[in-house]
Amino acid sequence: MNEIAFCNLSLATRVALDPYVENRATGAFILVDRFTNRTAGAGMVAFPLRRATNIHAEQFLVDKHARAALDHQKPLVLWFTGLSGSGKSTIAKLVEQALHAEGRHTYALDGDNLRHGLNRDLGFTDQDRVENIRRVGEVAKLFVDAGLIVLCSFISPFRAERRMVRELFDQGEFIEVFVDTPIEECVRRDPKGLYAKAMSGAIQNFTGVSSPYESPENPELRINTVSGSPEQTAEIVLSHLRSLIRAR
Ligand code: ADX
Repeated sequence: MNEIAFCNLSLATRVALDPYVENRATGAFILVDRFTNRTAGAGMVAFPLRRATNIHAEQFLVDKHARAALDHQKPLVLWFTGLSGSGKSTIAKLVEQALHAEGRHTYALDGDNLRHGLNRDLGFTDQDRVENIRRVGEVAKLFVDAGLIVLCSFISPFRAERRMVRELFDQGEFIEVFVDTPIEECVRRDPKGLYAKAMSGAIQNFTGVSSPYESPENPELRINTVSGSPEQTAEIVLSHLRSLIRAR
């Protein structure tokens, strides 16, 4: 609110624009919040980035559909979101194991693992989490393009970032699975001892303690890990997947 910044903006569609000093009409803009329709900001264009027009998309001759046909499967993303300790990775592991046993080609992307490599430069501020999820979304998109069933386990606490990832995919390719374990249960489990550290103040920005988690409003699947075993929960995800495959 009431702040001024010099920003790089990246848009989902192409728009015509000019530097503000050359044309005040096509060089000025406002930003409107898609949910509230309120104006969230106003801006003046300094200059378009050269890479916006100088980078073209190369079309290869073997595409996602050809790869998927060779694999006899429908590539998609299972996106597990939920608090730390909610059971995302545990369920994803069991689901992947079962899919693999059925002869499906899979790949698993996991927050803790990617943060040791591709995302090792990122921490847990809001900005870093957004970048974490943006990169993961792009990687998942590449794997879906490769024809795989991709299982992603990330806290991914913000609705806007989960929507950003969803919009990278075609209709029906992104399946959001909300691992809806209450914070009290995650704190009780505390498998990595992180909640104890967060509550004592030793870890900053910890989701559910000192950083928010925005629950999904319309996930494809919401699962409760308190009333069932991990195996039963994994079976719910698998039967949802099978019903999707049958419907096609
Ligand atoms: S996300 O919020 O950016 O989606 P991600 O899923 O990649 O998070 O990583 C979460 C994992 O990092 C947790 O399972 C936990 O082991 C570890 N971690 C370390 N510090 C934090 C923190 N401040 N908040 C949440 N998780 C943390």
